[in-house]
Amino acid sequence: MAPAAAVLLGPLLLASLSGVSTTTSVFPLTLPGSLLSRLGDHIQEVQARLGQRLGEPSPAREGWLQQPLDPFNSSDQRSFLQRYWVNTRHWRFPDGPVFLHIGGESSLGPSSVLKGHPGTLAPLWGALVVSLEHRFYGHSIPPGGLDLVQLRFLSSRHALADVASACIQLSRIYNISASSPWIGFGGSYAGSLAAWARLKFPHLIWAAVASSAPVQAQLDFSSYNQVVSRSLADPAVGGSSKCRRAVVQAFAELDHGLSEGKETQAALQSEVRACGTLETPEDQAELLEQLEGLVGAAVQYDQQAGVPLDVRSLCHLMLANQSRGPLSGLQDAIQLVLQTLGLPCLPSSKAAAVAEMKDTSPQAEGLGSRQWFYQTCTEFGYYITCKDSSCPFSRRRTLSDQLQLCAQVFGLLPASVAEAVTRTNTYYGGQSPGATRVFFVNGDIDPWHVLSVLQALGSSEPAVLLRGTSHCSDMAPAQPSDPPSLHLGRQKIAQQLKIWLQEAKVDLGSV
Ligand SMILES: *[C@@H]1O[C@H](CO)[C@@H](O)[C@H](O)[C@H]1NC(C)=O
Ligand SMILES: *[C@@H]1O[C@H](CO)[C@@H](O)[C@H](O)[C@H]1NC(C)=O
Ligand SMILES: *[C@@H]1O[C@H](CO)[C@@H](O)[C@H](O)[C@H]1NC(C)=O
Repeated sequence: MAPAAAVLLGPLLLASLSGVSTTTSVFPLTLPGSLLSRLGDHIQEVQARLGQRLGEPSPAREGWLQQPLDPFNSSDQRSFLQRYWVNTRHWRFPDGPVFLHIGGESSLGPSSVLKGHPGTLAPLWGALVVSLEHRFYGHSIPPGGLDLVQLRFLSSRHALADVASACIQLSRIYNISASSPWIGFGGSYAGSLAAWARLKFPHLIWAAVASSAPVQAQLDFSSYNQVVSRSLADPAVGGSSKCRRAVVQAFAELDHGLSEGKETQAALQSEVRACGTLETPEDQAELLEQLEGLVGAAVQYDQQAGVPLDVRSLCHLMLANQSRGPLSGLQDAIQLVLQTLGLPCLPSSKAAAVAEMKDTSPQAEGLGSRQWFYQTCTEFGYYITCKDSSCPFSRRRTLSDQLQLCAQVFGLLPASVAEAVTRTNTYYGGQSPGATRVFFVNGDIDPWHVLSVLQALGSSEPAVLLRGTSHCSDMAPAQPSDPPSLHLGRQKIAQQLKIWLQEAKVDLGSV
């Protein structure tokens, strides 16, 4: 009964479509090339493989939709192919609900229609599961690639127009009944997209579950490190104030050493296993950013499958061998992370990081670094700084340095970046989006939760803040070691969905 997918493949694109992606969409939300983003990619890959049964045919099918490059200009006839995945195995044809997994700033693989809330909840509801890769990421890159002239067709608004168009096209391709409610799901940036899809297209999207969605755009995201600091000291996840202090001391030692002469810098280079010399302030800042990312990732991805270090194990290392000096714990942590990622040394060249962002050749798998950086410069900011007094890291990482990168890579001036962030919040409503039937799910360990909706904004806008839980944890496959709050959180999502699907039955006449 599964209808044939209409495949609209352009011959030029075919050659590049052979790779099989495994990644899902829980993304790192960070600057390109950083340890934080590499760790995010690594965790995604591990989670995509979890519970995969080899040799069994997968119900996930790949398809392509033709989408207008510029949906806001009907005289522009150019188009591109957007990838989607579909799983019809559980679908009660034709009017079971549609669970739409919205993609973010990474490629989407088949696991996007097998796992997460959509894949897990589909059997119960007889749902059709569909996922949509975000334009300009993964294999959904318009002709012309990542050139700056093309990137002006990359924004959350374009992505939402794609979602609306996909609802219409997929309904036709799969003969989906008009009484089938569409439920949007997404995590992190894609969680924001899920909420905004409901906000802007309520006639198409019946309800949404937004996991760890930073709906508030923010230029100077200094509160990220405020939460990192708090989480390192949180006994619920194995942190302590001693651990936090050890991190502060390690970074103070580093900061001090880096400002000494060449000899100390050379000694530090080998101690922290940096790939290059640490003589220029730019490379020093790059190294510090990588190491902050290492600690940040332990917090952001705390207790998730595939994470080499979480708060508990990081704190264990930080406190185990303090007699060897303030850097010893950090050295052990670096060793472990390099080993996990298969890296010979810690990238510490600013020039290399900038070159990576200037590289216009698309990367078909994992995070789209250049594209995501472009979206921070033109929509969201999210620049992590160390301004808050509780920040455990070096004070060297300033907002203006990060804004400078927008100028260097894209020619965008700091004032325009600030203006863009303001406009984003005006357009979507920041932390008061005013959309009904959106469930905001967050974890209090996750540094991103402060930019989301944490309290219900009325009975049809529920929210839950899960204690002891990290970034997008609710979307990961359930594990016996999950904290009770996470278990309860997943139950609340299922209960809320039940209510909204029952409302759909009454209002849309669906079964
Ligand atoms: C709309 O598209 C047409 C055809 O490509 C182009 O000539 C025109 O400049 C575009 N308008 C805007 C506002 O981009
Ligand atoms: C689409 O589904 C309806 C039932 O909802 C059915 O009557 C119709 O024949 C179907 N059309 C196609 C093309 O499958
Ligand atoms: C502490 O140092 C000793 C000796 O250098 C080493 O064998 C041990 O593994 C270290 N402990 C941790 C937790 O790294």
